[in-house]
Amino acid sequence: MAQPLANKYRPKTFEDVSEQGAIKTIIENQIKNNDLRNAYLFCGGAGTGKTTCARIVANMINEGKGNPIELDAASNNSVDDVRRIINDSRFKSIDSKYKIYIIDECHSLSNAAWQAMLKLLEEPPKFTLFIFCTTDPQKIPGTILSRVQRYNFQRISREGIISRLKYIIREENTETAPNYIITYEEQAIDYIAKQARGGMRDAITTMDKCLAYSKDLTLANVIKVLSAGVTPYDLDAFTLEIINKNTDGALSKLDNFYMSGIDMGLLVSSYFEFLLNVQKYLVLHRYDISNLPKDILDKYSNCDPNIIRNLIQKLFSLINGSKVDMKTMLEAWVIERCI
Ligand SMILES: Nc1ncnc2c1ncn2[C@@H]1O[C@H](COP(=O)(O)OP(=O)(O)O)[C@@H](O)[C@H]1O
Ligand SMILES: [Mg+2]
Repeated sequence: MAQPLANKYRPKTFEDVSEQGAIKTIIENQIKNNDLRNAYLFCGGAGTGKTTCARIVANMINEGKGNPIELDAASNNSVDDVRRIINDSRFKSIDSKYKIYIIDECHSLSNAAWQAMLKLLEEPPKFTLFIFCTTDPQKIPGTILSRVQRYNFQRISREGIISRLKYIIREENTETAPNYIITYEEQAIDYIAKQARGGMRDAITTMDKCLAYSKDLTLANVIKVLSAGVTPYDLDAFTLEIINKNTDGALSKLDNFYMSGIDMGLLVSSYFEFLLNVQKYLVLHRYDISNLPKDILDKYSNCDPNIIRNLIQKLFSLINGSKVDMKTMLEAWVIERCI
């Protein structure tokens, strides 16, 4: 079975890691100047390079010798799991200078586990180093936070994601050369990058899924794969029925969504996001600010923002309990204030 692209293209060196420049420089200097700490905390959004960088740092510190010991705290979070580490950490590594532990998803550790960990961090054995990784630093006890050196991983910019996706396509095509199997439209890559919201893993995984559907990465194909049932084109058609007060047409479209098995909570949140993206375009007159395809936005260029505003406000009351994330809610609030 083919390896998922996100794993196949996990960077092995800092050079290969997109962005996170300040973190890379500081740690490189610490290694160069022999100024290492006993415990590091890598925080940041999912798929921004925390685990990847933890492995690279371990490898750099030990000059390629040995392997770090990884603990996935999501499934090993008890005090016994930490006690095992404490016992084990007393013995010096046999194949490398430092014994390095990578404690991934460390926000899942139990309170008792953190208590045990705290003792270890207060008097860490020589030549032992911990790298904790988490998406939720606010769940980590303050006593621990004050004993680790913290690095905040930024979400990856859209340009950063686009350039990595193109790099992966080039590499894949080099493997299959002289048959360049993957072809793509700029818009398709751009659309994937927009949807990933700064998560590199998400972007690569989405592209992988699209490539499994077709090696021809067109915007139409990407939208089909990504939309899981309801595409922006469906939502656009639905909106036109509403705006034109064609109740019959709107209800029948709604029924089609329902009958095709789309989760109604998900429909509400997708629709809310759709309207918000139309509104962003109407307020700012920029294609890049909205994550909808250009041909849809063009249809709304003469639309009165108050019409969309009205739809958004009415939909607001339905959102309770559906899956709209806080960033989208805040954006809606900002846009509302800018009309
Ligand atoms: N900064 C980055 N540069 C290049 N690829 C990245 C980066 N961050 C994540 N990736 C890709 O996403 C995958 C998962 O990254 P990972 O480091 O495990 O993320 P997390 O921050 O969730 O620990 C990697 O295998 C790699 O393909
Ligand atoms: Mg990780």
